[in-house]
Amino acid sequence: MHFELTEEHIAVRDAARDFAQAELLPGVIERDTEAKFPFEQIKKMGELGFMGMMVDPKYNGGGMDTISYVLAMEEISKIDASASVSMSVNNSLVCWGLEKYGTESQKEKYLKRLAAGEIIGAFCLSEPEAGSDATSQKTTAELRGDHYILNGTKNWITNGSSASVYLVIAQTDISKGHKGISAFIVEKGWDGFLIGKKEDKLGIRGSDTHSLMFTDVKVPVENRIGEEGFGFTFAMETLNGGRIGIAAQALGIASGAYELAVAYSKERKAFGKPISQHQAIQFKLADMATQIEAARLLVLKSAWLKDQGQDYAYASAMAKLYASEVAMNVTIEAVQVHGGYGYVKEYHVERLMRDAKITQIYEGTSEIQKIVISRSLLR
Ligand code: CAA
Repeated sequence: MHFELTEEHIAVRDAARDFAQAELLPGVIERDTEAKFPFEQIKKMGELGFMGMMVDPKYNGGGMDTISYVLAMEEISKIDASASVSMSVNNSLVCWGLEKYGTESQKEKYLKRLAAGEIIGAFCLSEPEAGSDATSQKTTAELRGDHYILNGTKNWITNGSSASVYLVIAQTDISKGHKGISAFIVEKGWDGFLIGKKEDKLGIRGSDTHSLMFTDVKVPVENRIGEEGFGFTFAMETLNGGRIGIAAQALGIASGAYELAVAYSKERKAFGKPISQHQAIQFKLADMATQIEAARLLVLKSAWLKDQGQDYAYASAMAKLYASEVAMNVTIEAVQVHGGYGYVKEYHVERLMRDAKITQIYEGTSEIQKIVISRSLLR
């Protein structure tokens, strides 16, 4: 068992760290306040290879392993979780799903541009009445010759207005339940496809989250991913990997807040000495560091299992469940360490605390992760 990163892993982590400091930190508070999507920054992330890290180089990807991806996700998330959720959705939901299950022509047409970061993608499963209960899809796709007619509404879609390509899950045969669900590639701008209102959110405010409306949208049969009826398995398998990305995001939010708390505690004096010399603060830092280290091990283990070609659904659910709890705990404590300064935007930790909450909700709530874990335990 090796607990050391390779030189390549360290280089990727350092490149992500440098990028986050140089390009994401400036303006992150303003983007949060104004709910402004980091367009320019995401474009640069694409140019540096962060948007298609694990994709085969023949499709313009970085050909890297999942360990490299989670290391980069952690560094980007320390600074800007709005940028990192776009990165996570593009890498582990959209690119992974297309590379694993897309046809060669779908890969040529869509994956190459997504992996190069020329365009970004969105993953559309959730609906107004189908969040955790993902089998209750109301969106329908009806086969009419060489195309499907897509109707329905999707909710809370990350990259909702900034994406160019949308992977949409829909019912093709309602009588078959989840075995009658299929997945499709839909392009922005197609007739009948409307981007709905932007959500005004507690956290990850720079991320553009929208509802999407499909009214009689014509989707060519060649844009179906896999066979008819494969869509639910497609969504579940894609989310198994997506949860590794979100776990790494949660880890980054926690470690970003922790690093700020350590630095602040060494500078801030109270009762004649830096607060880092008071045991009340030392114990908080010790708890934060221990939780972060445990979360990091779970995240790396799930990434490693995926790289080894082993079953990782259970490990990724555990990593996400635990890392998101740690993100919440650690960011709350980081605000506490900062006292009154922690409650104002300038010190970053209040934003990280708001950003942490979503990691317990999206890509499967903590309760859903417990279902995935316990079903796997009891199988
Ligand atoms: N991996 C692979 N297959 C899975 C799976 C998994 N993790 N979980 C379920 N399945 C398969 C089952 O094996 C079953 O297949 P068969 O019928 O062929 O055996 C099928 O899916 C149905 O499973 P269940 O009978 O267990 O269905 P269920 O309705 O009882 O529960 C669930 C399924 C696990 C709760 C599922 O609905 C779920 O994961 N819900 C959460 C959805 C979610 O994560 N949404 C996130 C939205 S995307 C997002 O947030 C992206 C973003 O923008 C950031």
